[in-house]
Amino acid sequence: MRIVVTGGAGFIGSNFVRWMLDADPAVSIVTLDALTYAGNAENLDGLSPVRHQLVVGDVTRMRDVAGVLDRRVDAVVHFAAESHVDRSISSAQAFAATNVVGTQVVLDAVRQAGVPRLVHVSTDEVYGSLAPGEPPFTEAHPLTPTSPYAASKAGADLLVLAAAATHGLDAVITRCGNNYGPYQFPEKLIPLFITNALAGQPLPLYGDGRQVRDWIHVEDHCRAIAAVLQRGRPGRVYNIGAHGEQDNLSVAHQILSLLHLDPGQIRHVADRPAHDRRYALDTERIERELDWRPTIEFGDGLAAAVSWYQEHRDWWERVKSGAYRTYYESQYGSRLP
Ligand code: NAD
Ligand code: DAU
Repeated sequence: MRIVVTGGAGFIGSNFVRWMLDADPAVSIVTLDALTYAGNAENLDGLSPVRHQLVVGDVTRMRDVAGVLDRRVDAVVHFAAESHVDRSISSAQAFAATNVVGTQVVLDAVRQAGVPRLVHVSTDEVYGSLAPGEPPFTEAHPLTPTSPYAASKAGADLLVLAAAATHGLDAVITRCGNNYGPYQFPEKLIPLFITNALAGQPLPLYGDGRQVRDWIHVEDHCRAIAAVLQRGRPGRVYNIGAHGEQDNLSVAHQILSLLHLDPGQIRHVADRPAHDRRYALDTERIERELDWRPTIEFGDGLAAAVSWYQEHRDWWERVKSGAYRTYYESQYGSRLP
């Protein structure tokens, strides 16, 4: 099986490429990635050049996408996106370009090349926010995104569903909760807090820290995407979640406790605008139709992630140098006087 993975040099994409090559010796993969600030060729180090190739290219450019697609490609798994909510609040244009226009380019290229299947990797953030006690989102929940990031992903989802309905394209959408694990860019909560804790820096917790996210280990997400790729029904949406609801304050305490560090490192800072209070996912559909279930408990997965960042200090110290420092200063400079 030949697969093209867009965004495969990022966090989830690189985990998926590694997982898929490991799981099935008959698979070969071409990664198409623009290597933005979040993309890192190092995340794909050590893979066999016979089974994996990295092509640097931009999903908003038709010639780049068409260049990696031909009749021998069995499927495209589309991860490439601008993915960080805070960056979308500072500046949203790249989100509209990559997430909306880029997805349409991928849809057109897949159709032109006659690729049999597209998996579009989306997010639970397209549903908006839940109040405490509300039932988890099902796939039928209306799309009510609040951040520019989530709105751009919702726009992409609608384009995918339109291509399936109008052109009969075999496309399937996944909507997953918050991932954590190896190779996650340290702008997101868990790797930011682990690496700040390890470096003796404050952990900047937005607002009251009582926002809830439905955490899933990236390996469980990769297995779910493989199940959708192999067995998902065309034109269908599948929620992916691990019933891992945790509030941010508790996540911060768990990280510090695993590292035997003082909770005094937590700093409450100015909140994110329009901060979604809670996400939670109903995963009955993927469990019933595709027989997929999460396997990693949050406590175990978090302990494994903490160990990975302890053992890969050179990786995150490199990632947190250079342009990252400018980003950190602009996001946190005035929040952490
Ligand atoms: P990431 O930011 O770590 O990686 C994104 C990758 O896409 C990077 O390698 C980047 O270089 C590449 N990219 C960006 N713009 C591109 C362009 N124009 N052309 C080609 N490549 C480009 O993101 P992630 O956290 O790995 O998320 C991957 C996908 O999963 C995204 O679509 C995101 O919306 C979705 N998702 C993420 C989470 C999460 O918790 N991180 C949860 C659910 C869904
Ligand atoms: O739910 C899936 C989504 O999860 C993905 O679609 C996104 O790509 C991914 O970035 C993530 O979005 P969140 O906004 O939930 O993730 P983030 O790690 O940015 O924040 C998680 C929670 O932690 C959120 O409530 C905000 C809070 N937070 C985050 C940062 C970076 C803090 O309190 N302090 C911080 O410094």
